[in-house]
Amino acid sequence: MRHLISPLDLSIEELEHILCLGQEIMESPEKFSHICEGKKLATLFYEPSTRTRLSFEAAMLNLGGKVLGFSSADSSSAAKGESVADTIRVISSYADICAMRHPKEGAPTVAAMYSEIPVINAGDGGHNHPTQTLTDLLTIKTLMGRLDNMTIGMCGDLKFGRTVHSLINAMVRYPNIRFVLISPQELKIPDYLRREVLDQKNIEYIETDQLEQNMPKLDILYMTRVQRERFFNEEDYIRLKDSFILDTNKMKYAKKDMFVLHPLPRVNEIATEVDNDPRAVYFKQAKYGVYVRMALIMSLLGLDKAKQ
Ligand code: CP
Repeated sequence: MRHLISPLDLSIEELEHILCLGQEIMESPEKFSHICEGKKLATLFYEPSTRTRLSFEAAMLNLGGKVLGFSSADSSSAAKGESVADTIRVISSYADICAMRHPKEGAPTVAAMYSEIPVINAGDGGHNHPTQTLTDLLTIKTLMGRLDNMTIGMCGDLKFGRTVHSLINAMVRYPNIRFVLISPQELKIPDYLRREVLDQKNIEYIETDQLEQNMPKLDILYMTRVQRERFFNEEDYIRLKDSFILDTNKMKYAKKDMFVLHPLPRVNEIATEVDNDPRAVYFKQAKYGVYVRMALIMSLLGLDKAKQ
């Protein structure tokens, strides 16, 4: 039985297999509409979500399976004090696979220790968000035709943004990847990521608080929102929340074939006027999330080799 807790739980070959399967599903979704008949996905969301939960549910429904779950800690027995370990023991007899989002870093790891079904980390605190990374990789691979040889700008809250941490971990495994890490001083990437990932693997990167002057060198610009829910005080959030706002004026400095990604939800960091720019692909990215989650569910259930 396999779980997906971190993007590094998948080898490059497994990742490639899931992305190729995601692209195959994108081409002909109808071929996969009965693969998960008789299977159930449980979505255990202790934290708010729109895309991740609903795209997981859409993915399982598209595969012919069924879904059950809860969308907040308040509407589950966590509100009465039940532990993640006890919850997953019970859910193991109700569903075949589960996706869990939790505000505490490591909660899906604990769940995996007690689970009898595959556990997928759908975001744990400020730590990891591996299925967003699969979504990001499918978007980049589909639109650019490659996952190597590029300069990726990451802009916004690089400290608390779990999608940033997961994507850096995933992209450093491909050749000739460079990062431009754009954030306010207080929201720079965590030390462990700089030391244990970027420095250790000799990855080329700069840390800066300048978006505009770095735009011309980027192949991908990955915008992120400042994560209000992870701040200790509202004052700091208000001071930092509008540090970077991408607008059509700044887009003039970008390459003609640069793509703007954002895991969403967006708050102020991308002006809505940018949405009409063909390089703005964040809504397409959210759509790709369904295909890649279909591929992941099939893989973890061992149904990816099944006859279509
Ligand atoms: N990208 C993402 O995780 O969005 P949600 O919080 O809406 O799931």
